[in-house]
Order: sequence, then C-alpha cells, then structure tokens
Amino acid sequence: MKNAGVIPGHAPSVIPKHAPDVIPKHGPGVIPSEARNLLLHEPRTADSSSLKLLGMTRILLLAMAIVAVPSAVAQVAKPAIAPPPAVATSVAPSVAIPVSTSVATLPYHSKDTSMGVVNCANSLCHGSVEPIKGANILQTEYVTWSRVDKHARAWQTLFSERSLRIAKNLGIGKPSEARICLDCHTHNVPKDRRAERFQVDDGVACEACHGPSGRWLESHVLDKATHEDNLKAGLYPT
Ligand code: HEC
Ligand code: HEC
Repeated sequence: MKNAGVIPGHAPSVIPKHAPDVIPKHGPGVIPSEARNLLLHEPRTADSSSLKLLGMTRILLLAMAIVAVPSAVAQVAKPAIAPPPAVATSVAPSVAIPVSTSVATLPYHSKDTSMGVVNCANSLCHGSVEPIKGANILQTEYVTWSRVDKHARAWQTLFSERSLRIAKNLGIGKPSEARICLDCHTHNVPKDRRAERFQVDDGVACEACHGPSGRWLESHVLDKATHEDNLKAGLYPT
C-alpha cells in the first residue's frame, strides 16, 4: 500500500540549475508503438449487482424526466417553429467549438490511449519542485498533484474500512474491482486504451481531467506546439 505523500516510483527528481534553458524532452515518456494501435472499445460488462443499482438509478432518472418533460417540451416548442435559415447560419460560426469531437465526452470515454502519469513527472516537464521561471505554466503540477491533491489517492481509498463497508452494504464485491467505484476513484479507461506504463492505482491523475495523451504527449512539448494543436490532438480544454 502506498504511503500518503509521494507515490513510489514517481518521486520527482531535483530540478537542475540549467532547467530553464533546456527544451523539455520527455525523459521517461517513451511511447510504446502498440499504444498507437487504438482498438475499438467493447462496452464493459458490469456485475449483476451494480447493474441492479444502475437500473434503480435509471428508474429515478426516468421519474425525473417524466416530471421535467412538460416544461422541456414547452421550451422546445417555440424554436421548433423554424427560425429563418439566414439566422441559423449567421449564428452557427460564433458558437462552433474549434476542437476535436472527443470533447463532447468525458476524458475516460475518449478513444485515445492513456499513457500514464509517469510520463508527466519529469522534473523538466510537470515534476519541477519550484515554478520554472519564464515558463507559461508552473511546471510543478505533478508535485502538487502527488503531494497535495487527494485525487492522487482516490484509488487507495477503495481499500479503506469505509469503502469495504459501503461495498458490503451495496453487495458489489470488492470496491477496488467494482466499476461503479472505479469510474470515479481512478481514470478507469478500458484495458485496450491503457499504454504499458499506465497504472490504475495512480487514481484520478492528469489524463482523467486533461484527456488521454496518446496523440498529444509527444507533440505538446515541441517548440512549435500551440494550444489549438493540442486540443485537436485530444487535450481537453480543462
Ligand atoms: C460519482 C463519483 C463517485 C462514485 C461513483 C464513487 N465515489 Fe467515492 N468519492 C467520490 C468523491 C468526489 C469523493 C471525495 C469527496 C470529498 O472528499 O468531499 C469520494 C469519497 C469517498 C470516500 C471517503 C474518502 C475519505 O477518505 O474521506 C469513500 C470511502 C468512498 N468515496 C468510497 C466509494 C466507494 C466504495 C464507491 C463505490 C461503491 C464510491 N466511492 C463511488 C466520488 C465517487
Ligand atoms: C481533478 C482534475 C485535474 C487533475 C487530476 C489534474 N488537473 Fe491540471 N488542471 C485542472 C484544471 C481544472 C485546470 C485549470 C485550473 C485553472 O485554470 O485555474 C488545470 C490546470 C493545469 C495546467 C495549467 C496551469 C498551471 O498549473 O500552470 C497544467 C499545466 C496542468 N493542469 C497539468 C496537470 C498535470 C501534469 C496533472 C497531473 C500531474 C494535472 N494537471 C492533474 C484539472 C486537473
């Protein structure tokens, strides 16, 4: 079990004096070629008890929907009386979001491969112990996440007495194996979208919020990289 504080194996190294002059290169971030073979994800199967729970949730949602429908219909009814097409075309460009379609979903629904937080931890990248002067970001994000942010320990929580009690009461088996817990307590992407160095026990790590980095891990550190390019390659506009 991991101690609170630093995650073993990810301890950030000390920031070298020449750091600001060095173009960040992902030291530990070698991307295995198989990570690029993005396989289509089969819907995962939940165990029967979590299905039961989901079933109950659906019934609740349905009940809420039934209550909400009349007002929603009332709201929809008006625009349905077709505004002139000219208005529609003039409005469209201003609301268009210039990023990839994956943005419509949560990061763990993305079809991109999650490379693992270890790739972000280099002291020249996001694992600096102090903000790097002249950089447009702090570059201390990994240190903050691993030492301060409880998201780094969200997975470990599933082994606590409390979690075991919750899971027992729900009859869902081990909480660390129940999808209903894992979906929030870690970056629970399907197995075929986990690169070699991805670890489920890293909890809610960078890619859980910023998007799986399979297509942007290498390119986002290039000199010519722009935020727009990163977004197109699957970075989420967090
Ligand atoms: C919808 C997302 C979501 C799901 C599903 C979920 N959790 Fe959580 N859980 C959270 C969040 C967010 C927190 C942190 C709340 C806070 O600190 O205020 C949390 C906190 C906890 C805590 C308290 C941790 C502490 O040390 O204070 C336990 C225990 C826990 N969850 C167990 C579980 C178990 C077991 C499951 C599966 C049955 C589960 N959770 C499912 C989001 C979720
Ligand atoms: C729980 C969600 C979450 C996690 C986990 C997370 N981030 Fe963030 N991150 C955010 C949000 C939200 C912002 C925007 C905050 C703001 O604008 O004030 C942000 C901002 C940033 C920024 C830009 C601001 C800065 O710090 O200079 C960087 C870079 C960044 N995150 C990198 C990382 C890295 C690297 C990790 C993993 C070690 C990580 N984030 C983990 C949600 C997250």
